Amino acid sequence: MALIRITNRAQKASYPIRDVEIGARVAALKKKGVKTYELNIGDPGAYDGLYGFAMFKGIKDALVHNIQTNGRFDGYATEQGERVLLEAVAADAKKRGIHDAKPDNVVAGNGLSEIVDYLIGVSVEKGTNMVLPRPDYPLYTARVNWYEGTPRYYDLDPENALQPKVEQIEAAIDGNTFAVVNINPSNPTGAVCTEEKMKAIIDVVKDKGKGNVAILSDEIYRLLRFEGKHVSMASLTKDVPVITLDGLSKGYYAPGWRTGHALFSNFPDDKLKNALVKVCGFRLSANKAVQHAYAHGIRHFSEDDAEARKYLAMLKERANYTSQRLNAIPGIRCVPPKGAFYAFPQLLKGPWKTDKEFVIQLLEEEGVRVVHGSGFAMKPEDRFFRVVTLPDLKTQKEAYDRIERFVKKYG
Ligand SMILES: Cc1ncc(COP(=O)(O)O)c(C=O)c1O
Repeated sequence: MALIRITNRAQKASYPIRDVEIGARVAALKKKGVKTYELNIGDPGAYDGLYGFAMFKGIKDALVHNIQTNGRFDGYATEQGERVLLEAVAADAKKRGIHDAKPDNVVAGNGLSEIVDYLIGVSVEKGTNMVLPRPDYPLYTARVNWYEGTPRYYDLDPENALQPKVEQIEAAIDGNTFAVVNINPSNPTGAVCTEEKMKAIIDVVKDKGKGNVAILSDEIYRLLRFEGKHVSMASLTKDVPVITLDGLSKGYYAPGWRTGHALFSNFPDDKLKNALVKVCGFRLSANKAVQHAYAHGIRHFSEDDAEARKYLAMLKERANYTSQRLNAIPGIRCVPPKGAFYAFPQLLKGPWKTDKEFVIQLLEEEGVRVVHGSGFAMKPEDRFFRVVTLPDLKTQKEAYDRIERFVKKYG
């Protein structure tokens, strides 16, 4: 009899971005002294700040101040989140047109991932489903499976600037659907959803969901849009339930600080939010000192500040370079990203039967690590892969010279 059991769900679970087998290959290559290019993790602070991004100074100063202030910020926070943060999130959302935003409707967590986990945990079980974009951000598929629900997908159309195929959302919603997820700007594609498509999603959720289906609008990249201002899904409807998901990981360049939040709009009552807050009580609280520093940031930071503009310009230049280099390789197609720090190219030729075959051979021969598209719910034989556009141009040049050489050799 085994004393230590691992559940079936844990055995079945996988997380492609941190794929263990590929991670072991990278470690083995490094041990042999091979130079590697890790274009797989969407972390602006990766490799001890190598990419040149850092949390904004004013917010760092606020955190330093908090942790040096007697014991005021050393205890647990409330399970829903510190009032000062809930107020700051609600006030900012209201400024951006989310008409009913109020502090009581905000729930904060240790990173958005935690909130997404708990939210799916309180809403999804066997027999229920969630409608996700394909490609998705793998957290959603992983958590729906974890709670024994069924992921259903709608495609982001590469023939139409990776916009959602709204008719597929309509077809996927039924009486057991909890929510439709939209990620804007998108991880893994870097695409920005048009206002027209957002309105179309709202309309089908309203018609087919009949008040029982929510939109989960993941806007964690909203500050990282290269042109124009971000439009929040919840600012476009006064009656369809929307949960706006956001946090400091991406727009503030500090995912290691672990703070994210959900804002509930247009819900007829507080049942779902209260269930979420109850489950948040299991982990007692999110990080208190960081919540206060983040609240300071939301109140005082602007996307028009010099630091934010400088970083966004760097991201745009690096994203443009990525898509130019990829599109210049015969046999690769890449829709140019409009935000975030990813691109999602497709191989149109070459001997590789699956995306993972390509990814492993590229890593072994050229030391370049990318993520297979099937990790984002794509078909392996469609041979998509995701690259992170964060590295500086010199590093990118070396990586793309290698990808080019490799694809030309076999393609
Ligand atoms: C679309 C999307 N949602 C949520 C998250 C998780 O964010 P956090 O770092 O706040 O847990 C990520 C992180 O990469 C993401 O890309």
